[in-house]
Amino acid sequence: MPGADPREALADVLGALGATLRHHRDLGVAALPLSGDYLLGPEEALAAQERALQGCRKCKLCDGRTTIVFGSGNPRAEFVVIGEGPGADEDAQGLPFVGRAGQLLTRMLEARKVELRRDEVYISNTVKCRPPANRNPEPDELAACAPVLAAQLAALQPKVILALGSVATQALLHTREPIGKLRGRVHPYGSAVLIPTFHPAFLLRNPGEEYKRMAWEDLQLARREYDKRRTR
Ligand code: URA
Repeated sequence: MPGADPREALADVLGALGATLRHHRDLGVAALPLSGDYLLGPEEALAAQERALQGCRKCKLCDGRTTIVFGSGNPRAEFVVIGEGPGADEDAQGLPFVGRAGQLLTRMLEARKVELRRDEVYISNTVKCRPPANRNPEPDELAACAPVLAAQLAALQPKVILALGSVATQALLHTREPIGKLRGRVHPYGSAVLIPTFHPAFLLRNPGEEYKRMAWEDLQLARREYDKRRTR
């Protein structure tokens, strides 16, 4: 019933489930052969999602892509990095952040007081196929890929999400605020927190010390949040 206490609704569902299970037991059912993605560990869940995505034609980016760039890193990572979308190098290799921006990202993660290795985090993008000429993903493309990213995050269960640049940050936080206003602070994100920072490609184009210092501060903030929240 709309407006009913959700705890009562949950208690009803669990009560009905209990009754069904007792009924099955009384009929002699001794084991339940359960299967489904919801029972998979993060490694298997992500692998199943990546398999299911092959040949995806849900948006127009499929026409120009060579490879779907699903994500890479540690499926058990509680620190997840989300960028914008694959570039030419990523499209060719099928891996996120392997070009110049990726090399800078690696250095940012390894920086003093951040000290994260790429193989201990998980890295992906808001869209999994390369936008032509590296343009920003368009709203219909972001919308088509949003369930893929949501499923990935549901499998990963991160504690900290580092969002790179305005596209990823605005898509994840459902806001139009500029990155300059969003960065520098911690945003609640379900059971995780999201920390926005400048995209490494932006830092390559704007090598001013001020932007680099702000990005380093953001990464240190992400590291501190990670140390507070991590369970592994
Ligand atoms: N830029 C991104 O946003 N993602 C990549 O994977 C590479 C470059």
